[in-house]
Amino acid sequence: MILYFSATGNTRFVALQLAERLGDEALDLLDRIKRDDHSPIHSDRPFVICAPTYVCEMPRFFADYLRKTPLTGSAAAYFIFTSGGYCGISGTLARSIAGKKGLRYMGCAELTMPRNYIVTDHYPELEKPEIERRIRACAEALEGIAGAIGRAERLKSRHVWLFEVAVTLPFNPVWCRLKQGVSSFQATDKCVGCGKCARLCPLNRIEIVDGRPVWHGKSCAHCMSCIQNCPVGAIEYGQITQKKNRYRFEKYRYVLKDR
Ligand SMILES: Cc1cc2nc3c(=O)[nH]c(=O)nc-3n(C[C@H](O)[C@H](O)[C@H](O)COP(=O)(O)O)c2cc1C
Repeated sequence: MILYFSATGNTRFVALQLAERLGDEALDLLDRIKRDDHSPIHSDRPFVICAPTYVCEMPRFFADYLRKTPLTGSAAAYFIFTSGGYCGISGTLARSIAGKKGLRYMGCAELTMPRNYIVTDHYPELEKPEIERRIRACAEALEGIAGAIGRAERLKSRHVWLFEVAVTLPFNPVWCRLKQGVSSFQATDKCVGCGKCARLCPLNRIEIVDGRPVWHGKSCAHCMSCIQNCPVGAIEYGQITQKKNRYRFEKYRYVLKDR
């Protein structure tokens, strides 16, 4: 069974492609994460766990969800991470989580996809040809990954150096606390009050009040689901996002039309 979380569609694409190629079922974990539902998930076929990379590791809310949720049936677990180019210590965390759950770690694959993090000026926006190139390259890589999983082979994981772990583990929570506030999110007059942002927020930080989204709490996962998936482009993050394009994998699906 393919288990996944995806905010802007990259990881969903990967998960659904693998499900199709392996003739297996894909389960979107969003609703379970939102409901804090840790009821067991059973599969007689290997678990293939797919997630994006946040701040050099697998999203912490996703890792927490995996730790708390019994996975029954198959004892084998593959992990697939998408990122904008650096999956950091995701593989190391995956191995550790699998070990603690008594699952056989079958390796992890890292796939570079378009970066979706638009609420900072640290990363330049990718040009359209580069976005298209990354999606094509990912689709090609998936053929090999699906083949290896189908043959029950281990995936060859990138070596994660100790210094990466030593830097990321303390850096991640500091970054999240200082840089992932919610106070700059706002809905402009374009908002139609559809509530999609609230439905997609994995941490339930958005409430619709008088037909408009209101962000609660001090910080969130900054997954970009709300701002990138708003059907009318009504959500901004301060002034940083005002002139930026929105990214969703679905906008670029045409790249794969001949596949
Ligand atoms: C909060 C946040 C942090 C991110 N951190 C990284 C990172 O450390 N390295 C990287 O290469 N990409 C990073 N990204 C980019 C995403 O991992 C990448 O675009 C991913 O494919 C998005 O998957 P999705 O479309 O399934 O949500 C980050 C994105 C977000 C939203």
